[in-house]
Amino acid sequence: MKKIIALITLLIIAAVGSWYIAGSLNHSHSAQPIVHYQSKLVPKQAAFNKNLYSHSDPSSIWVVVNKQNPLNPVTYIPADLVFPTVPLRVPGNETMQLRRVAALAMEQMFAAAAKQSINLMLASGYRSYSYQTELYDGYVATQGKTVADAQSARPGYSEHQTGLAADVEPVSRNCEVEQCFATTPEGIWLANNSYKYGFIIRYPQNGQAITGYEYEPWHIRYIGVAAATEMHQNHVLTLEQFFGYPAAPHYAN
Ligand code: DAL
Ligand code: ZN
Repeated sequence: MKKIIALITLLIIAAVGSWYIAGSLNHSHSAQPIVHYQSKLVPKQAAFNKNLYSHSDPSSIWVVVNKQNPLNPVTYIPADLVFPTVPLRVPGNETMQLRRVAALAMEQMFAAAAKQSINLMLASGYRSYSYQTELYDGYVATQGKTVADAQSARPGYSEHQTGLAADVEPVSRNCEVEQCFATTPEGIWLANNSYKYGFIIRYPQNGQAITGYEYEPWHIRYIGVAAATEMHQNHVLTLEQFFGYPAAPHYAN
């Protein structure tokens, strides 16, 4: 009898023991400890380096040009201007050029848009110091200085002179360089997709206190895919805020 009791006790101990071991093995496969373990091992993603490229060299894709930061020198001319292979408003005109890197990005962007029946055209790209003088003086003559300064940069202060900025419009020229462009299929597509090709809408709605300019849904600026994506993901609307520059609503003089 004693032997039988001892045998049963032994069997019970063996059964409980193996159940316990199986249980703890199962636990080692559960998500909790592994997630904890990984969180210690996997390093956090490195912060985006906002100083990788110059913000003052006019040939840098991250140059900050605004009413407080003119191009230096003010007569800067980009060395690698090309005509992008996209619909051009004035074929052959000097203003239909862009820096090579921005031109390639625009070609890819317009081709992607066209696949979705969004037909975009380049309305204005590179503008020389002297052409920007003509444009700005024209605005001042017709609209006065205050309105001119809210819509057009003074010579030496325009992003267009970097060859990295462009005004874009529908091939139909509907809402050409007008705020209603934002409500067209082309304007909506540009706002939603341009970051994927390295462009930002440089003068956002309600941004005048920071950028110095009214909303320009047609004006895009090339800063590269990584930076444009970083801005998009973090909902940063202006280059000034992204690179930690003070607001630039006015000229120093
Ligand atoms: N319209 C933009 C601000 C320019 O003239 O560069
Ligand atoms: Zn523009």
